Amino acid sequence: MKKIMILSGAGLSAESGIRTFRDHDGLWENHDVMKVCSTQGWIADRKGVTRFYNERRADIASKEPNHAHKVLSQLECEYRGRIVHLTQNIDNLMEKAGAKEVVHLHGTLTDLRCEACLETFDVGYAAQEPHMSCPHCGAKCIRHNVVMFGEAAPAYSHIYEAIRSSSLFIAIGTSGAVIDIVSIAKEFKHSVLIDPKRQETVSIYDKHTYIDQYFEHFIAKKASEAMDELLALIHAHMED
Ligand code: APR
Repeated sequence: MKKIMILSGAGLSAESGIRTFRDHDGLWENHDVMKVCSTQGWIADRKGVTRFYNERRADIASKEPNHAHKVLSQLECEYRGRIVHLTQNIDNLMEKAGAKEVVHLHGTLTDLRCEACLETFDVGYAAQEPHMSCPHCGAKCIRHNVVMFGEAAPAYSHIYEAIRSSSLFIAIGTSGAVIDIVSIAKEFKHSVLIDPKRQETVSIYDKHTYIDQYFEHFIAKKASEAMDELLALIHAHMED
């Protein structure tokens, strides 16, 4: 039975009003990415980083899924067990749209994590309060559940598994700067890229080439505007 691998990034949530990373000169909501999203930044200023994620968490409470989130969620239902959707996004807009099986490669804003027992727990949109204790082990070393630069991302094992099991790769709204979508696309005969802008590759081996050259289909549109074309390609692939 054919399976599809979807890798989504910040562009998927852009039309819901959540800013992308690399369209803003290395700033994430006006903060230096390396200060709020690296192990060095975390060691230097735990309070400041915690405040930053508290703000991001509160911010997504009012955000709504856009047409692309809704279509991808319906797709999960239509092809139950055959869509492997891996997202780099830490928002919960796919879940708000009804999706149940999305894998969050870089963590989730609505959970916190215990640094002692490593378990996560749901905090919704609430702020992480000082001296909060872990509901699993009682330790008081709680942190945001977002993978930072300098840390391992255990959920990346899903990427290799998805490459092995899928026959179509779809990349939506990701620059490929963190997860190299060119090297993934090279593993597939069939692939689709959705991005309104042509992006240059980040790999030193493919210098000065465009990412879309490595994909079978390039839909140069915003995610929500690309859904009809994407659905036609998916249905054709699944029925073939
Ligand atoms: N629809 C589709 N794509 C869009 C849209 C849109 N409406 N708007 C922008 N894009 C594209 C941009 O052109 C860009 O190629 O989405 C891409 C977003 O790229 P990045 O900002 O680099 O986001 P992403 O690839 O998700 O970043 C990966 O970097 O900082 C880390 O952990 C963070 O998960 C994040 C990772």
